[in-house]
Amino acid sequence: MFWVDGESQQTIDILDRSFQYGDGCFTTMLVQGGQIQHFCDHRHRVDECLQALRIPGLDWNIVSLWLDNVIQHNQNNVLHGTESLQNINKLHNEKSGIKLHISRGSGGRGYSPLNVLKPMVTISSFDYPSHYNDWSKYGVQLGICSQALGLSPLLAGHKHNNRLEQILMKGEMDDAGEVDGVVLDISGHVIETTMANLFWRIKDKIYTPQLSQSGVAGVMRKRVLMALDSTEQFVKIGDYHLDQLLQADEVFMTNSILGIAPITRIRNTHFNIGPVTRSLQGQLNS
Ligand SMILES: Cc1ncc(COP(=O)(O)O)c(C=O)c1O
Repeated sequence: MFWVDGESQQTIDILDRSFQYGDGCFTTMLVQGGQIQHFCDHRHRVDECLQALRIPGLDWNIVSLWLDNVIQHNQNNVLHGTESLQNINKLHNEKSGIKLHISRGSGGRGYSPLNVLKPMVTISSFDYPSHYNDWSKYGVQLGICSQALGLSPLLAGHKHNNRLEQILMKGEMDDAGEVDGVVLDISGHVIETTMANLFWRIKDKIYTPQLSQSGVAGVMRKRVLMALDSTEQFVKIGDYHLDQLLQADEVFMTNSILGIAPITRIRNTHFNIGPVTRSLQGQLNS
């Protein structure tokens, strides 16, 4: 189901600028036990993206109400009117996803955003991908994308509504029979995967790519950086080439729905699941 500006709705205006141009941003959040995980961080990233795109800010009191209503609606569906103990336990543990999508709104002339009245907020929910449990426990095997990300300093880090590069690269990985792949930029720097951020450890140092030219600055990446910072395991954030990543003693990927998952292979190079990955999973995976 979809909710547009708080109302259940299946259609949108054909002049909507996200439909026409990808003019907006989105975030996907994990819901567990009826609560959105790391909501403040998602909200902050949406605010930053709206600001970068010069889209008017949201009234978060109203958006939070809309999100609560969607979660409540889903919980009522699980209960189906029978408040059996089994169903109530299910509610407490159940994970699902919720997507908050913002379009600048409808109208303007061509690309010009002048005279667009107000942003449109679409909320949808989805089931927790069941294979993520195995990924988290046993690890993920990745390919390497031969297509490279362009440099886009105006939009780097933001989760805006244009995801064409990720679609091309995911298609390449589908063809290669891989579930996901390491993504580099056109300068040959490692950036992320098609759907997650990357971290790796070599001896006692942890590395992650800087994202000033491309990539999405993940909410879970931020949480991992904070967790490592609090134990004084400082992360080196910089430009790294593939050969450096492939020398790692352990590698893991992060996103808000998956949490933290070990990477056990990148193309032909195998990695053991390491202590930093398991410790962060203990702290941050719901
Ligand atoms: C390309 C890309 N990079 C990184 C991430 C991780 O972001 P987050 O931790 O906010 O889910 C995502 C999430 O979907 C993504 O699509």
